[in-house]
Amino acid sequence: MAHVHLPVVGSVASLGGETAGALPQDPLLDNFSRKIRYLRVSVTDRCNYRCSYCMPEELGDQLVFEPRSAVLSFEELERLIAVFARLGVRKIRLTGGEPTVRKGIVELAQRIAALPGIEQVVMTSNGHLLGELAAPLAAAGVSAINISIDTLDAGKFHALTGRGDLARVLAGVDAAVTAGMRVKLNAVALRGVNDGELVALCEYAWSRGAVPRFIEHMPMSAGAIYEPARGISAHAIRTALEAELGPLPARYWSVSGSVSGQGRASATGREVGIISAMTEHFCDHCNRLRLTATGALHACLGHDDAISLRDVIRGGGSDDDVVRAIAAAVTGKRAGHVFDRSGAGAPQKHMIGIGG
Ligand code: 5AD
Ligand code: SF4
Repeated sequence: MAHVHLPVVGSVASLGGETAGALPQDPLLDNFSRKIRYLRVSVTDRCNYRCSYCMPEELGDQLVFEPRSAVLSFEELERLIAVFARLGVRKIRLTGGEPTVRKGIVELAQRIAALPGIEQVVMTSNGHLLGELAAPLAAAGVSAINISIDTLDAGKFHALTGRGDLARVLAGVDAAVTAGMRVKLNAVALRGVNDGELVALCEYAWSRGAVPRFIEHMPMSAGAIYEPARGISAHAIRTALEAELGPLPARYWSVSGSVSGQGRASATGREVGIISAMTEHFCDHCNRLRLTATGALHACLGHDDAISLRDVIRGGGSDDDVVRAIAAAVTGKRAGHVFDRSGAGAPQKHMIGIGG
């Protein structure tokens, strides 16, 4: 098998000149005994919102959207995801940008849900288009959705999201619940923005049968739009919640189900998740890979290494070549991210391109 060198930062490697050879025995088992079961797929790098911590208007022309031809087609996505499924991936999360702005998203979800081996198709969305799309997405097989709501104050919401409309998002939450999806509500915990309404966000989520989740603010985009002073630690989030809700269990962080039972219960029997990516990271249990809209396979959110699966298939590669490229990415998966609350160690890549 040809040797693959992963770039340390920034660029996406192609597996040029890959030749036939023995396939790795378990392409989804990494060097730290972590088995990949879950693939997050960004279906577009575009978004109808401009959240200040993700892709603020000020970044303006620094953020260049990919031309349509660079983005994987439905056929390409289907082919790649089928290979992942063959290797043992069982869960697909559709992300963006904002996945619902991809034309034909309902059909795409349906096609992915129909692939042999795929047991769960879920989505992360800003909720803006869910009033219209939740029912057809649920019918297509999207069983769960994470919707971002950082604040319940319409004015603050609009300011934070640049273009957002809280009433539409709340209608989107109701539509998702009515459609029978499992719903989680994501809030990035931000000092001076929503630190006064953490409990209110919980109460709202619970009133809809949804699970509230608080995410520690993470530095992406080389730290360019990261404001350390705005970040709230998992510990501080927990303390604030406990002051009003009573004690939470000792292990309260959430890793999207990859560690069962953790990050779930509260003293009242209602669930709350705290995504402590910064202060108590859960890299040891990481079971996921991320595929960008242009087909770059990233083994870690916090590092820029990536291998282009698009180049493999557009270069005429076979499915076995895709397997070898996936194995190379998995072999290169780092032990964990290295960013910290100062913003040091932030990857160059933008959250908008990788979808969280
Ligand atoms: N830090 C933490 N969470 C973020 N998100 C976007 N950017 C950041 C960041 N810098 C969140 C979104 C969405 C989820 C996928 O990631 O709000 O809920
Ligand atoms: Fe869009 Fe989500 Fe980024 Fe906000 S956080 S700009 S909704 S992709």
